[in-house]
Amino acid sequence: MEYRPAESTDNAGYATLSWQGDHSGWLRLLDQTLLPTEYCEIDCRTVKEVWEAIRRLSVRGAPAIGVAAAYGVVIGLQSAADGSRAEFNLRLREVTDYLASSRPTAVNLFWALERMENVANQSADADASEMLARLLEEARRIESEDREMCAAIGRHGAELLGDNQGVLTHCNAGALATAGDGTALSVIFAAAAQGKQLQVYADETRPLLQGARLTSWELCQRDIPVTVICDSMAGWVMREKRIDAVITGADRIAANGDVANKIGTYSVALLAKAHGLPFYVAAPSSTFDLALATGDEIPIEQRDASEITQLGAQQTTPEHVDVYNPAFDVTPAEYVTAIITERGVIQPVTTENVHNHLGTEAISS
Ligand code: MRU
Repeated sequence: MEYRPAESTDNAGYATLSWQGDHSGWLRLLDQTLLPTEYCEIDCRTVKEVWEAIRRLSVRGAPAIGVAAAYGVVIGLQSAADGSRAEFNLRLREVTDYLASSRPTAVNLFWALERMENVANQSADADASEMLARLLEEARRIESEDREMCAAIGRHGAELLGDNQGVLTHCNAGALATAGDGTALSVIFAAAAQGKQLQVYADETRPLLQGARLTSWELCQRDIPVTVICDSMAGWVMREKRIDAVITGADRIAANGDVANKIGTYSVALLAKAHGLPFYVAAPSSTFDLALATGDEIPIEQRDASEITQLGAQQTTPEHVDVYNPAFDVTPAEYVTAIITERGVIQPVTTENVHNHLGTEAISS
């Protein structure tokens, strides 16, 4: 894997991820583990490098993980482009299974891998080298659709925010988490572009500090007023009437509207309810998993204890203390005021409304 300092750190210059070259090209990622103090890009030229980048959160956020994985499939299939179609198919299965093992919760990963597999299933006529070209086309399509979905989410969501409002967000659901302008942050960017004055509060989002490191960085880049708070302060700032609305992204949404998102989101939703504040979730339709009736079935990623026991090089707990580190939680639909997608707004959040909105039929049990 190649590290290169990026040429520009201004907003116009940063790209969360980009494909370089043609079908024999590679994936360039902004290494988010180093932000905000270092701005470095990584070039991934093997599928293992893509897997590791996803796993260690160099690229993160549900939609961005999906796009990165789609390009990872192309990289993984480059070596099979000169062989037979049967060998290509076997390799495709191997590569998608491997990438699917990188992180378990964000459904966009599996959704993107399935789209890549479907291209192969629908192209029985193509030889291996033609297949590689078609896979690259599909990965590019997934990326550009994601960009469009972000823009549409911003347009729909901006209507829900008023002028001079305080808005709390948790984790990072911005341009760093997608191929476009983000989901929750896209709503904030769109509202600001309409001339609304917003004061954003960013939960720092322990243990990996996506709010403190990434969300505040993105908002500073765009000159939107942002104040970072510790996660434990959210209730108090609501009580102090600094917050008018909460908006977060999502990693997976079940058919009934239960929402998996970064650990701590559930607590924020309960606090919003207790203070009579709207709790909005912004996510593209690729984040819905209609195969799951409720959020109880969503797999929750467990991450390494060192994320909690260490703060950089500093040990913050006794040496061998037990640690529990679930990376996500599930907020029941009853606490979600509305879900904003690229198609519009789901409100109230019920199984029926989710299916009507997505144009799907409920699976009867
Ligand atoms: O562990 P992460 O940083 O990948 O978690 C990201 C989140 O929880 C985001 O809120 C979610 O993926 C939505 S991103 C548009």
